[in-house]
Amino acid sequence: MHWSSFELTSGRFSPDNGRPYACGYVMKSISLIQFLIEERRAGHINAELSLLIEVVARACKRIAVATNKGALGGVLGEAGTGNIQGEAQKKLDVISNEILLEANAWGGQLAACASEEMEDPQPIPDMYPKGNHLLLFDPLDGSSNIDVNISVGTIFSVLRCPDGITEPKAEHFLQAGTTQLAAGYVVYGPATVLVLTFGHGTHEFTLDREVGSFILSRRDIRIPEETAEFAINMSNQRHWEVPMQRYIGELLAGKDGPRAKDFNMRWVASMVADVHRIITRGGVFFYPLDAKIKSKGGKLRLMYEANPMAFIVEQAGGAATTGRERIMDIQPSGLHQRVPVFLGSKNEVDVATHYHVEADAAA
Ligand code: AHG
Repeated sequence: MHWSSFELTSGRFSPDNGRPYACGYVMKSISLIQFLIEERRAGHINAELSLLIEVVARACKRIAVATNKGALGGVLGEAGTGNIQGEAQKKLDVISNEILLEANAWGGQLAACASEEMEDPQPIPDMYPKGNHLLLFDPLDGSSNIDVNISVGTIFSVLRCPDGITEPKAEHFLQAGTTQLAAGYVVYGPATVLVLTFGHGTHEFTLDREVGSFILSRRDIRIPEETAEFAINMSNQRHWEVPMQRYIGELLAGKDGPRAKDFNMRWVASMVADVHRIITRGGVFFYPLDAKIKSKGGKLRLMYEANPMAFIVEQAGGAATTGRERIMDIQPSGLHQRVPVFLGSKNEVDVATHYHVEADAAA
């Protein structure tokens, strides 16, 4: 239990360690709803954004239920369709997309939604009121992991709808990551966990399944600047650019190499799960450019994967670049634009980015 996540409503503290006594005292948990009310009172968000986050969190609870049913819910396997990226859709990709669209259509908090699973933004139906926000999401990140029962997740980003625009098109979503009002992800793992930022720190909420509420479990998460753990798909090694080969080669050389330190490696192949490990115990995540994906610009999508994750990681004291520039500074050119992603513990992101910038300058 993280004491910082709970309010002590009554009781005394131990003179030995200053902590609350473990028994006989009432601890009051902070729900997501309470947290959102506090954020409104602090002037960090308005009522419409608060409602938007509540609605997204509620939709993610439904996705968690569908995900947890697995084979019993008939949700595993291919949907038999493809998305705009030319990728085969899993049934849960389609189900999660529909849950998020349906939940967000009628509350009056949104002007439009955009998703990895749809070529164009989805307008709010005429019968419902429209709000001032734009919502982007990857409804089910890491979907190749669904059928093998490994963690998957939902990633989302919230932007302001430009003034005077009542029917937002793709061009109205093309705002730099620095303009995000909120970003979050939900990881559907052994526990269902929501991580959220409004630009005032990064906070974690764990779903209490019996109560049905997300409960604050970590406030103001900090990613350690130093790490000895990296995440990358090593099978692409031979296709990487020279500076990436150099950087990872040095990590692999361990204590005997130029870094004089042994590094550990992890790769879940669900960005949400890899990022969650990083915001929990530090580490660094790379999906660099390689010869196979160079023409596409990268593997991961800027608007609903890289930007929200960069916002969350930076707000936790980490860094997020493409290897050449800060992700959130990129002026987007397309709704489904792809970029290389380096993110996590600041010192390692800095070293890897420096190698790329230095190589470009030398060339
Ligand atoms: P998708 O949204 O299509 O499920 O993509 C998953 C992403 C990301 O979550 C993960 O880090 C990466 O793709 C895995 O890629 P590899 O299969 O190349 O390892």
